[in-house]
Amino acid sequence: MTNAHALKTVVFPVAGKGTRFRPATLATPKELLPLVAKPLLQFAIEEAVMAGAEKLIFVSSELKPGIAAYLSHPGVTADCDVVVVNQEKALGLGHAVLCAREHVQDDSFGVILPDDQIFGPVGCLAQMAAARGESNANMIAVEPVAREDTNRYGIIDPANHRGRLVKAKGIVEKPMPQDAPSELAVVGRYILDAGIFERLADQSAGSGGEIQLTDALARDIERQGLEGYRFNGQRYDCGTPSGMLDATIAFARASGDLCQSLERSLSYAA
Ligand code: G1P
Repeated sequence: MTNAHALKTVVFPVAGKGTRFRPATLATPKELLPLVAKPLLQFAIEEAVMAGAEKLIFVSSELKPGIAAYLSHPGVTADCDVVVVNQEKALGLGHAVLCAREHVQDDSFGVILPDDQIFGPVGCLAQMAAARGESNANMIAVEPVAREDTNRYGIIDPANHRGRLVKAKGIVEKPMPQDAPSELAVVGRYILDAGIFERLADQSAGSGGEIQLTDALARDIERQGLEGYRFNGQRYDCGTPSGMLDATIAFARASGDLCQSLERSLSYAA
């Protein structure tokens, strides 16, 4: 990735309660759950740095002091400036991103949801930054999902496809399968124009009674445009125990020593 397209600021919404991972998350934030020995958050930080990040903004919660404790360890955030802000109330992803507003000085910034772990030849956010180039359109990573799963994701209404780019003429949060405009789902990577903060500031509650980033993106389409990016890589939903298990196995298979352990344990099981 060329520095001309580097993303200097990346926001990490990490205030979620992690209810699907209890009891593990009673004391450990879900973003600090590891793939073997490396926390999901560390993968996310490394992906941001690969995209050119120099400033990392973590939107956490006072109920999760472990996040700030982790970030205070030397080396985990490379040489980046680090800001931790607390989201006072769990009002949704859009509200979480809005909490970062006063710390974002650039015209564009990235957002990584550490739950979505993506393994690929190049970090997903770096791929997106390179594909976005000089454009100031809002950009989201997308991938096809099964029709019966559309109510778990933001879903775009595609206008046209150009290589990995999919121009969107609409986006809707968690539509029922029969109402979904397509099967192209948003995964947790965004590059946003800072103008999105204006939309988020007066965004009313949407799906689940929460302030949704998806709804602000939909309202911003006319002004800013919206591009889906079909990334090169494999995504694992580490917000669910089965996705976490799949990601752990994929990670182990790709690492020399762990791969041998994995093969050994699978041969015991056979
Ligand atoms: C959030 C977004 C959704 C997106 C998903 C990707 O939902 O609101 O649009 O598809 O992340 O992981 P959540 O999973 O936080 O409910």
